Amino acid sequence: MSDSNRLWWKHGIVYQIYPRSFMDASGDGVGDLEGIRRRLGHLAWLGVDGLWISPCFPSPMADFGYDVADYCDIDPLFGGLADMDRLIAEAHRHDLRVILDLVPNHTSEAHPWFQASRSSRDDPKRNWYVWRDPAPGGGPPNNWLAIFGGSAWEWSEATGQYYLHSFLKEQPDLDWGNPEVEAAMHDVLRFWFDRGVDGFRIDVIHRIAKDPALRDNPVLDPAGGYGGQRHVHDENHPDVHERLRGLRRLADTYPERVLIGEVYLFDPAEVARYYGKGDELHQAFNFSLMHAPYSAKRMREEIERFQELVPEEGWPNQVLSSHDAIRHASRYDDPQHGEGRARLLAMLLLTTRGTPFLYYGEEIGLRNVEIPEDRRQDPLAWTLHPAASRDGERTPMPWEPGDGAGFSSGHPWLPFGDDADTRNITCQKEDAGSLLHLYRDLIALRRNTKTLERGTQRSLAAPAGVFAFERTHRGERVVVALQFGDEELELDLGRGRVRGGISTRWGSELPRDLEALVLGPAEGMALLVDS
Ligand code: GLC
Repeated sequence: MSDSNRLWWKHGIVYQIYPRSFMDASGDGVGDLEGIRRRLGHLAWLGVDGLWISPCFPSPMADFGYDVADYCDIDPLFGGLADMDRLIAEAHRHDLRVILDLVPNHTSEAHPWFQASRSSRDDPKRNWYVWRDPAPGGGPPNNWLAIFGGSAWEWSEATGQYYLHSFLKEQPDLDWGNPEVEAAMHDVLRFWFDRGVDGFRIDVIHRIAKDPALRDNPVLDPAGGYGGQRHVHDENHPDVHERLRGLRRLADTYPERVLIGEVYLFDPAEVARYYGKGDELHQAFNFSLMHAPYSAKRMREEIERFQELVPEEGWPNQVLSSHDAIRHASRYDDPQHGEGRARLLAMLLLTTRGTPFLYYGEEIGLRNVEIPEDRRQDPLAWTLHPAASRDGERTPMPWEPGDGAGFSSGHPWLPFGDDADTRNITCQKEDAGSLLHLYRDLIALRRNTKTLERGTQRSLAAPAGVFAFERTHRGERVVVALQFGDEELELDLGRGRVRGGISTRWGSELPRDLEALVLGPAEGMALLVDS
Protein backbone atom coordinates (compact mmCIF):
# COMPACT_ATOMS: atom_id res chain seq x y z
CA MET A 1 0.00 0.00 0.00
CA SER A 2 1.63 3.23 -1.00
CA ASP A 3 0.71 6.06 1.30
CA SER A 4 2.80 9.18 1.28
CA ASN A 5 1.63 10.13 4.78
CA ARG A 6 2.79 6.90 6.29
CA LEU A 7 5.83 7.40 8.49
CA TRP A 8 7.64 4.15 9.14
CA TRP A 9 8.68 4.90 12.72
CA LYS A 10 5.30 6.30 13.68
CA HIS A 11 2.77 4.15 11.92
CA GLY A 12 4.93 1.08 11.66
CA ILE A 13 6.34 -1.56 13.98
CA VAL A 14 9.94 -2.01 15.14
CA TYR A 15 11.62 -5.34 15.89
CA GLN A 16 14.55 -5.44 18.30
CA ILE A 17 17.42 -7.80 17.53
CA TYR A 18 20.00 -8.75 20.11
CA PRO A 19 22.75 -9.49 17.58
CA ARG A 20 24.55 -12.15 19.61
CA SER A 21 21.40 -14.24 19.59
CA PHE A 22 19.52 -13.82 16.34
CA MET A 23 21.45 -15.84 13.77
CA ASP A 24 25.03 -17.05 13.60
CA ALA A 25 26.29 -17.35 10.04
CA SER A 26 29.97 -17.81 10.94
CA GLY A 27 29.48 -20.86 13.17
CA ASP A 28 31.25 -19.46 16.25
CA GLY A 29 28.16 -19.71 18.44
CA VAL A 30 27.52 -15.96 18.46
CA GLY A 31 25.08 -14.25 16.10
CA ASP A 32 26.36 -11.80 13.47
CA LEU A 33 25.31 -9.28 10.84
CA GLU A 34 25.46 -11.77 7.98
CA GLY A 35 23.11 -13.94 10.07
CA ILE A 36 20.67 -11.07 10.43
CA ARG A 37 20.87 -10.43 6.69
CA ARG A 38 20.01 -14.04 5.95
CA ARG A 39 16.98 -13.87 8.20
CA LEU A 40 15.55 -10.60 6.88
CA GLY A 41 12.96 -12.68 5.05
CA HIS A 42 11.45 -13.58 8.41
CA LEU A 43 10.98 -9.93 9.32
CA ALA A 44 9.48 -9.14 5.93
CA TRP A 45 7.13 -12.14 6.26
CA LEU A 46 6.11 -11.00 9.74
CA GLY A 47 5.36 -7.54 8.34
CA VAL A 48 7.38 -5.23 10.59
CA ASP A 49 8.75 -1.92 9.32
CA GLY A 50 12.13 -1.67 10.96
CA LEU A 51 14.75 -3.46 12.98
CA TRP A 52 16.81 -2.12 15.86
CA ILE A 53 20.10 -3.87 16.38
CA SER A 54 21.59 -3.67 19.88
CA PRO A 55 25.26 -2.56 19.76
CA CYS A 56 27.47 -4.36 17.28
CA PHE A 57 30.46 -1.99 17.42
CA PRO A 58 34.01 -2.97 18.44
CA SER A 59 33.89 -3.76 22.13
CA PRO A 60 35.69 -5.78 24.79
CA MET A 61 32.14 -7.01 25.61
CA ALA A 62 32.34 -6.23 29.32
CA ASP A 63 28.64 -5.31 28.94
CA PHE A 64 28.14 -7.18 25.66
CA GLY A 65 28.56 -4.23 23.35
CA TYR A 66 27.22 -1.46 25.60
CA ASP A 67 30.90 -0.74 26.17
CA VAL A 68 31.89 0.74 22.82
CA ALA A 69 35.55 0.98 21.82
CA ASP A 70 34.89 2.55 18.39
CA TYR A 71 31.57 4.11 17.40
CA CYS A 72 32.29 3.97 13.68
CA ASP A 73 33.14 0.34 13.02
CA ILE A 74 31.78 -3.16 13.54
CA ASP A 75 33.17 -5.70 15.98
CA PRO A 76 34.85 -8.58 14.07
CA LEU A 77 32.63 -10.94 16.04
CA PHE A 78 29.67 -9.52 14.12
CA GLY A 79 31.44 -8.90 10.77
CA GLY A 80 32.70 -5.63 9.34
CA LEU A 81 31.49 -2.39 7.84
CA ALA A 82 30.94 -4.11 4.50
CA ASP A 83 28.53 -6.51 6.21
CA MET A 84 26.64 -3.59 7.71
CA ASP A 85 26.44 -1.89 4.32
CA ARG A 86 25.07 -5.08 2.77
CA LEU A 87 22.60 -5.51 5.60
CA ILE A 88 21.32 -1.95 5.27
CA ALA A 89 21.00 -2.22 1.50
CA GLU A 90 19.17 -5.51 1.67
CA ALA A 91 16.91 -4.38 4.51
CA HIS A 92 15.95 -1.36 2.43
CA ARG A 93 15.16 -3.63 -0.51
CA HIS A 94 12.71 -5.42 1.81
CA ASP A 95 11.32 -2.03 2.85
CA LEU A 96 12.77 -2.50 6.32
CA ARG A 97 14.47 0.40 8.10
CA VAL A 98 17.58 -0.06 10.23
CA ILE A 99 18.03 1.47 13.67
CA LEU A 100 21.38 1.23 15.43
CA ASP A 101 22.07 1.58 19.14
CA LEU A 102 23.94 4.74 20.15
CA VAL A 103 25.63 4.63 23.54
CA PRO A 104 26.54 8.27 24.23
CA ASN A 105 26.77 8.29 28.01
CA HIS A 106 29.87 6.16 28.26
CA THR A 107 32.50 4.40 26.21
CA SER A 108 34.51 1.30 26.89
CA GLU A 109 37.67 1.83 28.88
CA ALA A 110 39.35 0.45 25.76
CA HIS A 111 38.15 3.37 23.61
CA PRO A 112 41.16 5.38 22.38
CA TRP A 113 39.51 8.51 23.83
CA PHE A 114 39.65 7.03 27.31
CA GLN A 115 43.08 5.53 26.77
CA ALA A 116 44.31 9.03 26.01
CA SER A 117 42.27 10.59 28.80
CA ARG A 118 43.62 8.28 31.47
CA SER A 119 47.23 8.60 30.28
CA SER A 120 47.96 12.01 31.80
CA ARG A 121 46.28 14.98 33.44
CA ASP A 122 47.52 17.14 30.56
CA ASP A 123 46.22 15.00 27.75
CA PRO A 124 43.92 16.93 25.39
CA LYS A 125 41.26 14.24 25.96
CA ARG A 126 41.52 14.42 29.77
CA ASN A 127 38.33 16.48 30.03
CA TRP A 128 36.35 14.22 27.74
CA TYR A 129 35.65 12.16 30.86
CA VAL A 130 34.87 13.13 34.44
CA TRP A 131 38.05 13.09 36.53
CA ARG A 132 38.17 14.30 40.13
CA ASP A 133 40.47 14.37 43.13
CA PRO A 134 39.50 12.33 46.18
CA ALA A 135 37.12 13.90 48.70
CA PRO A 136 38.93 16.11 51.26
CA GLY A 137 38.99 13.26 53.79
CA GLY A 138 40.01 10.74 51.12
CA GLY A 139 37.83 8.32 49.18
CA PRO A 140 35.49 8.97 46.22
CA PRO A 141 34.62 12.59 45.35
CA ASN A 142 30.91 12.18 46.14
CA ASN A 143 28.32 9.57 47.14
CA TRP A 144 27.14 8.60 43.66
CA LEU A 145 26.69 4.89 43.08
CA ALA A 146 27.00 2.80 39.92
CA ILE A 147 23.77 1.25 38.66
CA PHE A 148 25.68 -2.00 38.29
CA GLY A 149 26.94 -2.02 41.89
CA GLY A 150 29.44 -0.18 44.12
CA SER A 151 30.70 3.39 43.94
CA ALA A 152 30.36 5.29 40.67
CA TRP A 153 34.03 6.32 41.05
CA GLU A 154 37.06 4.27 40.16
CA TRP A 155 40.56 5.18 41.28
CA SER A 156 43.20 5.48 38.61
CA GLU A 157 46.66 5.07 40.06
CA ALA A 158 48.54 6.44 37.04
CA THR A 159 47.25 10.00 37.41
CA GLY A 160 46.02 9.90 41.00
CA GLN A 161 42.39 10.77 40.37
CA TYR A 162 39.00 9.06 40.24
CA TYR A 163 36.87 8.74 37.09
CA LEU A 164 33.11 8.52 36.97
CA HIS A 165 31.21 5.48 35.67
CA SER A 166 27.42 5.12 35.89
CA PHE A 167 27.61 1.41 35.04
CA LEU A 168 30.61 -0.94 35.14
CA LYS A 169 34.05 0.45 35.88
CA GLU A 170 34.89 -0.69 32.35
CA GLN A 171 32.35 1.91 31.08
CA PRO A 172 33.69 5.40 31.94
CA ASP A 173 31.16 8.23 31.54
CA LEU A 174 31.85 10.87 28.91
CA ASP A 175 31.58 14.49 29.97
CA TRP A 176 28.89 16.03 27.77
CA GLY A 177 29.57 19.38 29.39
CA ASN A 178 32.60 19.43 27.11
CA PRO A 179 31.57 20.72 23.64
CA GLU A 180 34.23 18.52 22.01
CA VAL A 181 32.44 15.43 23.26
CA GLU A 182 29.13 16.63 21.90
CA ALA A 183 30.71 17.44 18.54
CA ALA A 184 32.38 14.02 18.39
CA MET A 185 29.07 12.31 19.07
CA HIS A 186 27.38 14.37 16.35
CA ASP A 187 30.05 13.12 13.98
CA VAL A 188 29.10 9.56 14.94
CA LEU A 189 25.48 10.19 14.00
CA ARG A 190 26.53 11.73 10.69
CA PHE A 191 28.81 8.80 9.95
CA TRP A 192 25.93 6.32 10.20
CA PHE A 193 23.24 8.52 8.69
CA ASP A 194 25.51 9.00 5.67
CA ARG A 195 25.77 5.21 5.40
CA GLY A 196 22.00 4.95 5.21
CA VAL A 197 21.11 4.11 8.80
CA ASP A 198 17.53 5.22 9.50
CA GLY A 199 17.77 6.08 13.15
CA PHE A 200 19.12 5.45 16.59
CA ARG A 201 17.93 3.91 19.76
CA ILE A 202 19.82 5.99 22.30
CA ASP A 203 21.05 4.29 25.42
CA VAL A 204 20.39 5.85 28.87
CA ILE A 205 19.99 9.30 27.36
CA HIS A 206 18.86 10.83 30.68
CA ARG A 207 22.42 10.31 31.96
CA ILE A 208 24.22 12.58 29.49
CA ALA A 209 23.60 15.54 31.79
CA LYS A 210 24.50 15.49 35.48
CA ASP A 211 24.97 18.13 38.12
CA PRO A 212 28.14 20.00 37.03
CA ALA A 213 28.93 20.63 40.72
CA LEU A 214 28.75 16.87 41.40
CA ARG A 215 26.70 17.33 44.57
CA ASP A 216 25.84 14.30 46.69
CA ASN A 217 22.51 12.63 46.09
CA PRO A 218 20.13 12.70 49.08
CA VAL A 219 20.24 9.37 50.89
CA LEU A 220 16.91 7.84 51.87
CA ASP A 221 18.15 4.49 53.06
CA PRO A 222 21.89 4.16 53.81
CA ALA A 223 21.64 0.37 53.51
CA GLY A 224 19.60 0.57 50.30
CA GLY A 225 22.50 0.87 47.84
CA TYR A 226 21.60 2.47 44.51
CA GLY A 227 17.89 2.26 45.28
CA GLY A 228 18.46 3.96 48.63
CA GLN A 229 19.31 7.31 47.01
CA ARG A 230 17.19 9.96 45.32
CA HIS A 231 18.86 10.37 41.96
CA VAL A 232 18.52 14.12 41.69
CA HIS A 233 22.11 14.94 40.76
CA ASP A 234 23.53 11.99 38.81
CA GLU A 235 20.92 11.95 36.02
CA ASN A 236 18.17 13.95 34.33
CA HIS A 237 19.90 17.33 34.75
CA PRO A 238 17.95 20.04 32.85
CA ASP A 239 20.88 20.50 30.42
CA VAL A 240 19.91 17.19 28.87
CA HIS A 241 17.15 18.89 26.89
CA GLU A 242 19.46 21.30 25.09
CA ARG A 243 21.77 18.40 24.24
CA LEU A 244 18.82 16.47 22.84
CA ARG A 245 17.72 19.44 20.77
CA GLY A 246 21.21 19.43 19.30
CA LEU A 247 20.94 15.77 18.34
CA ARG A 248 17.47 16.35 16.92
CA ARG A 249 18.55 19.33 14.82
CA LEU A 250 21.21 17.12 13.31
CA ALA A 251 18.83 14.21 12.67
CA ASP A 252 16.37 16.59 11.02
CA THR A 253 18.93 17.53 8.39
CA TYR A 254 18.36 14.02 6.98
CA PRO A 255 15.00 12.77 5.69
CA GLU A 256 12.89 10.46 7.87
CA ARG A 257 15.53 9.69 10.46
CA VAL A 258 14.43 8.86 13.97
CA LEU A 259 15.78 9.17 17.52
CA ILE A 260 14.25 6.90 20.14
CA GLY A 261 15.63 7.28 23.61
CA GLU A 262 15.92 5.01 26.57
CA VAL A 263 14.88 7.32 29.40
CA TYR A 264 15.06 5.02 32.36
CA LEU A 265 13.21 7.21 34.83
CA PHE A 266 10.33 5.87 36.84
CA ASP A 267 8.18 8.98 36.63
CA PRO A 268 6.38 8.86 33.24
CA ALA A 269 5.82 12.62 33.40
CA GLU A 270 9.61 13.13 33.40
CA VAL A 271 10.00 10.61 30.58
CA ALA A 272 7.45 12.52 28.50
CA ARG A 273 9.49 15.73 28.87
CA TYR A 274 12.12 14.12 26.61
CA TYR A 275 9.82 14.74 23.66
CA GLY A 276 10.36 18.47 24.17
CA LYS A 277 8.10 20.49 21.90
CA GLY A 278 8.56 18.05 19.09
CA ASP A 279 12.21 19.14 19.01
CA GLU A 280 13.88 16.49 21.18
CA LEU A 281 13.30 12.72 20.91
CA HIS A 282 10.87 11.38 18.33
CA GLN A 283 9.99 8.79 20.94
CA ALA A 284 10.96 8.10 24.52
CA PHE A 285 10.61 4.46 25.45
CA ASN A 286 7.54 3.81 27.50
CA PHE A 287 8.53 0.99 29.82
CA SER A 288 5.44 1.23 31.99
CA LEU A 289 3.94 -1.99 30.62
CA MET A 290 7.17 -3.84 31.42
CA HIS A 291 6.68 -2.93 35.05
CA ALA A 292 2.95 -3.52 35.23
CA PRO A 293 1.51 -6.72 36.67
CA TYR A 294 -0.85 -8.91 34.66
CA SER A 295 -3.94 -6.84 35.37
CA ALA A 296 -6.53 -5.24 33.10
CA LYS A 297 -6.84 -2.29 35.45
CA ARG A 298 -3.14 -1.63 35.78
CA MET A 299 -2.39 -2.00 32.08
CA ARG A 300 -5.27 0.34 31.32
CA GLU A 301 -4.00 2.93 33.81
CA GLU A 302 -0.45 2.77 32.46
CA ILE A 303 -1.55 3.16 28.86
CA GLU A 304 -3.94 6.02 29.62
CA ARG A 305 -1.35 7.83 31.69
CA PHE A 306 1.40 7.78 29.08
CA GLN A 307 -1.01 8.71 26.26
CA GLU A 308 -2.05 11.77 28.25
CA LEU A 309 1.50 12.79 29.06
CA VAL A 310 3.03 12.59 25.58
CA PRO A 311 2.77 16.06 24.04
CA GLU A 312 0.58 16.55 21.03
CA GLU A 313 3.55 16.77 18.66
CA GLY A 314 4.91 13.50 20.07
CA TRP A 315 3.95 9.91 19.49
CA PRO A 316 4.00 7.17 22.14
CA ASN A 317 5.37 3.68 21.86
CA GLN A 318 4.67 0.42 23.63
CA VAL A 319 7.15 -2.18 24.83
CA LEU A 320 6.56 -5.48 26.61
CA SER A 321 10.00 -7.10 26.44
CA SER A 322 13.64 -6.18 25.89
CA HIS A 323 17.19 -7.39 26.48
CA ASP A 324 17.06 -5.90 29.99
CA ALA A 325 13.82 -7.35 31.36
CA ILE A 326 12.32 -10.77 31.93
CA ARG A 327 10.45 -11.74 28.76
CA HIS A 328 6.76 -11.00 29.16
CA ALA A 329 5.74 -14.57 28.30
CA SER A 330 7.66 -15.57 31.44
CA ARG A 331 6.65 -12.54 33.49
CA TYR A 332 2.96 -13.32 33.05
CA ASP A 333 3.25 -17.08 32.64
CA ASP A 334 0.69 -19.42 34.11
CA PRO A 335 0.58 -23.23 33.89
CA GLN A 336 -2.90 -23.20 32.40
CA HIS A 337 -3.31 -19.81 30.76
CA GLY A 338 0.28 -18.87 29.87
CA GLU A 339 -0.17 -19.32 26.12
CA GLY A 340 -3.49 -17.49 26.19
CA ARG A 341 -1.90 -14.62 28.04
CA ALA A 342 0.94 -14.31 25.53
CA ARG A 343 -1.72 -14.11 22.79
CA LEU A 344 -3.74 -11.54 24.71
CA LEU A 345 -0.68 -9.33 25.23
CA ALA A 346 0.21 -9.59 21.56
CA MET A 347 -3.18 -8.07 20.83
CA LEU A 348 -2.71 -5.38 23.46
CA LEU A 349 0.68 -4.41 22.01
CA LEU A 350 -0.45 -4.40 18.39
CA THR A 351 -3.78 -2.60 18.76
CA THR A 352 -2.77 0.15 21.19
CA ARG A 353 -1.98 3.67 20.04
CA GLY A 354 1.79 4.12 19.73
CA THR A 355 4.57 2.35 17.89
CA PRO A 356 4.88 -1.27 19.04
CA PHE A 357 8.38 -2.56 19.74
CA LEU A 358 8.77 -6.33 19.48
CA TYR A 359 11.70 -8.16 21.03
CA TYR A 360 13.02 -11.04 18.91
CA GLY A 361 11.43 -14.34 19.92
CA GLU A 362 8.34 -12.86 21.48
CA GLU A 363 6.47 -13.74 18.30
CA ILE A 364 6.85 -17.43 19.23
CA GLY A 365 6.31 -16.88 22.96
CA LEU A 366 9.96 -17.41 23.88
CA ARG A 367 10.36 -17.72 27.63
CA ASN A 368 13.34 -16.77 29.78
CA VAL A 369 15.77 -19.67 29.89
CA GLU A 370 17.27 -20.94 33.15
CA ILE A 371 21.06 -20.57 32.74
CA PRO A 372 23.33 -23.08 34.54
CA GLU A 373 25.92 -21.44 36.74
CA ASP A 374 28.85 -22.44 34.57
CA ARG A 375 27.29 -20.79 31.51
CA ARG A 376 26.51 -17.42 33.01
CA GLN A 377 27.58 -14.47 30.86
CA ASP A 378 26.03 -11.22 32.09
CA PRO A 379 28.45 -9.38 34.41
CA LEU A 380 25.52 -8.34 36.60
CA ALA A 381 25.49 -11.90 37.95
CA TRP A 382 28.78 -11.02 39.65
CA THR A 383 28.60 -7.29 40.25
CA LEU A 384 25.06 -7.37 41.61
CA HIS A 385 23.48 -10.77 42.15
CA PRO A 386 22.94 -13.93 40.06
CA ALA A 387 19.23 -13.07 39.99
CA ALA A 388 20.07 -9.75 38.30
CA SER A 389 21.55 -11.55 35.29
CA ARG A 390 19.88 -10.70 31.98
CA ASP A 391 21.12 -13.86 30.24
CA GLY A 392 17.71 -15.53 30.51
CA GLU A 393 16.10 -13.06 28.09
CA ARG A 394 19.07 -13.04 25.70
CA THR A 395 19.19 -16.69 24.62
CA PRO A 396 19.52 -17.63 20.94
CA MET A 397 16.51 -17.65 18.64
CA PRO A 398 15.28 -21.18 17.86
CA TRP A 399 14.57 -21.24 14.14
CA GLU A 400 13.96 -24.96 13.63
CA PRO A 401 14.02 -28.29 15.53
CA GLY A 402 17.33 -30.12 15.98
CA ASP A 403 20.88 -29.40 17.14
CA GLY A 404 21.76 -25.74 16.93
CA ALA A 405 18.09 -24.93 16.23
CA GLY A 406 19.00 -23.33 12.91
CA PHE A 407 20.79 -20.61 14.90
CA SER A 408 24.33 -21.91 14.74
CA SER A 409 26.41 -24.84 13.63
CA GLY A 410 28.68 -24.16 16.62
CA HIS A 411 28.27 -24.13 20.38
CA PRO A 412 25.77 -21.36 21.17
CA TRP A 413 27.01 -18.71 23.59
CA LEU A 414 23.92 -19.22 25.74
CA PRO A 415 21.77 -22.37 25.86
CA PHE A 416 18.35 -22.85 24.27
CA GLY A 417 15.28 -23.55 26.36
CA ASP A 418 14.10 -27.15 26.76
CA ASP A 419 11.19 -26.48 24.42
CA ALA A 420 13.29 -25.31 21.43
CA ASP A 421 12.42 -28.41 19.40
CA THR A 422 8.78 -27.40 19.36
CA ARG A 423 8.80 -23.71 20.12
CA ASN A 424 10.62 -22.43 17.07
CA ILE A 425 9.90 -20.43 13.95
CA THR A 426 9.59 -23.37 11.55
CA CYS A 427 7.15 -25.36 13.69
CA GLN A 428 4.97 -22.36 14.39
CA LYS A 429 4.99 -21.34 10.76
CA GLU A 430 3.47 -24.69 9.87
CA ASP A 431 0.72 -24.25 12.44
CA ALA A 432 -1.89 -21.68 11.40
CA GLY A 433 -3.13 -21.47 15.00
CA SER A 434 0.28 -20.60 16.46
CA LEU A 435 1.26 -17.43 18.29
CA LEU A 436 3.53 -16.61 15.37
CA HIS A 437 0.57 -16.52 12.99
CA LEU A 438 -1.42 -14.44 15.45
CA TYR A 439 1.42 -11.88 15.52
CA ARG A 440 1.51 -11.84 11.75
CA ASP A 441 -2.26 -11.50 11.46
CA LEU A 442 -2.37 -8.68 14.03
CA ILE A 443 0.48 -6.89 12.27
CA ALA A 444 -1.38 -7.19 8.96
CA LEU A 445 -4.59 -5.97 10.57
CA ARG A 446 -2.78 -2.95 11.99
CA ARG A 447 -1.15 -2.16 8.68
CA ASN A 448 -4.41 -2.45 6.77
CA THR A 449 -6.45 -0.46 9.28
CA LYS A 450 -5.48 3.20 9.45
CA THR A 451 -7.47 3.52 12.65
CA LEU A 452 -5.14 1.08 14.39
CA GLU A 453 -2.05 2.75 13.00
CA ARG A 454 -3.10 6.32 13.68
CA GLY A 455 -6.44 6.62 15.46
CA THR A 456 -7.19 8.12 18.83
CA GLN A 457 -7.74 5.80 21.75
CA ARG A 458 -10.40 5.95 24.46
CA SER A 459 -11.07 3.40 27.18
CA LEU A 460 -14.57 1.95 27.41
CA ALA A 461 -16.47 0.98 30.54
CA ALA A 462 -16.07 -2.76 31.05
CA PRO A 463 -16.42 -5.29 33.87
CA ALA A 464 -13.50 -5.91 36.24
CA GLY A 465 -10.81 -7.98 34.56
CA VAL A 466 -11.50 -6.52 31.11
CA PHE A 467 -9.61 -3.73 29.41
CA ALA A 468 -11.72 -2.41 26.56
CA PHE A 469 -10.98 0.55 24.35
CA GLU A 470 -11.95 2.08 21.08
CA ARG A 471 -9.78 3.50 18.38
CA THR A 472 -11.26 5.97 15.91
CA HIS A 473 -9.99 7.73 12.83
CA ARG A 474 -12.01 9.63 10.24
CA GLY A 475 -15.26 7.87 11.07
CA GLU A 476 -13.69 4.41 11.17
CA ARG A 477 -13.96 2.56 14.48
CA VAL A 478 -12.16 -0.39 16.02
CA VAL A 479 -13.16 -1.80 19.39
CA VAL A 480 -10.71 -3.92 21.37
CA ALA A 481 -11.78 -6.00 24.35
CA LEU A 482 -9.12 -7.81 26.35
CA GLN A 483 -10.21 -10.16 29.09
CA PHE A 484 -7.46 -10.83 31.62
CA GLY A 485 -9.49 -13.16 33.84
CA ASP A 486 -9.64 -16.95 33.76
CA GLU A 487 -13.43 -17.36 33.50
CA GLU A 488 -15.61 -16.95 30.46
CA LEU A 489 -17.65 -13.76 30.62
CA GLU A 490 -20.23 -11.84 28.67
CA LEU A 491 -20.14 -8.14 28.08
CA ASP A 492 -22.07 -5.44 26.32
CA LEU A 493 -19.97 -2.74 24.68
CA GLY A 494 -22.88 -0.82 23.21
CA ARG A 495 -24.17 -0.59 19.69
CA GLY A 496 -22.14 -1.49 16.68
CA ARG A 497 -22.21 -4.09 13.93
CA VAL A 498 -19.00 -6.10 13.64
CA ARG A 499 -17.71 -6.38 10.10
CA GLY A 500 -14.40 -8.08 10.74
CA GLY A 501 -11.49 -8.41 13.10
CA ILE A 502 -9.49 -10.97 15.02
CA SER A 503 -9.95 -13.03 18.16
CA THR A 504 -6.86 -14.23 19.99
CA ARG A 505 -8.50 -17.67 20.18
CA TRP A 506 -7.72 -19.51 17.02
CA GLY A 507 -10.88 -20.53 15.19
CA SER A 508 -13.26 -18.72 17.51
CA GLU A 509 -16.13 -17.01 15.73
CA LEU A 510 -16.44 -13.26 15.83
CA PRO A 511 -19.67 -11.83 17.29
CA ARG A 512 -22.13 -10.02 15.04
CA ASP A 513 -22.45 -6.98 17.21
CA LEU A 514 -20.91 -5.41 20.27
CA GLU A 515 -23.87 -5.91 22.54
CA ALA A 516 -23.30 -9.55 23.20
CA LEU A 517 -19.60 -10.33 23.38
CA VAL A 518 -18.50 -13.58 24.96
CA LEU A 519 -14.86 -13.74 25.93
CA GLY A 520 -13.16 -16.93 27.08
CA PRO A 521 -10.28 -17.01 29.60
CA ALA A 522 -7.51 -14.65 28.47
CA GLU A 523 -9.31 -13.96 25.22
CA GLY A 524 -9.09 -10.71 23.34
CA MET A 525 -10.94 -9.41 20.31
CA ALA A 526 -10.12 -6.54 17.98
CA LEU A 527 -13.28 -5.74 16.06
CA LEU A 528 -13.87 -3.49 13.07
CA VAL A 529 -17.21 -1.91 13.79
CA ASP A 530 -19.85 -0.12 11.70
CA SER A 531 -21.53 2.44 13.91
C1 GLC B 1 21.07 0.34 28.93
C2 GLC B 1 21.08 -0.96 28.15
C3 GLC B 1 21.67 -2.03 29.01
C4 GLC B 1 23.09 -1.62 29.34
C5 GLC B 1 23.12 -0.25 30.01
C6 GLC B 1 24.50 0.30 30.09
O1 GLC B 1 20.23 0.29 30.02
O2 GLC B 1 19.79 -1.26 27.70
O3 GLC B 1 21.64 -3.27 28.37
O4 GLC B 1 23.67 -2.57 30.18
O5 GLC B 1 22.37 0.69 29.29
O6 GLC B 1 24.96 0.70 28.83
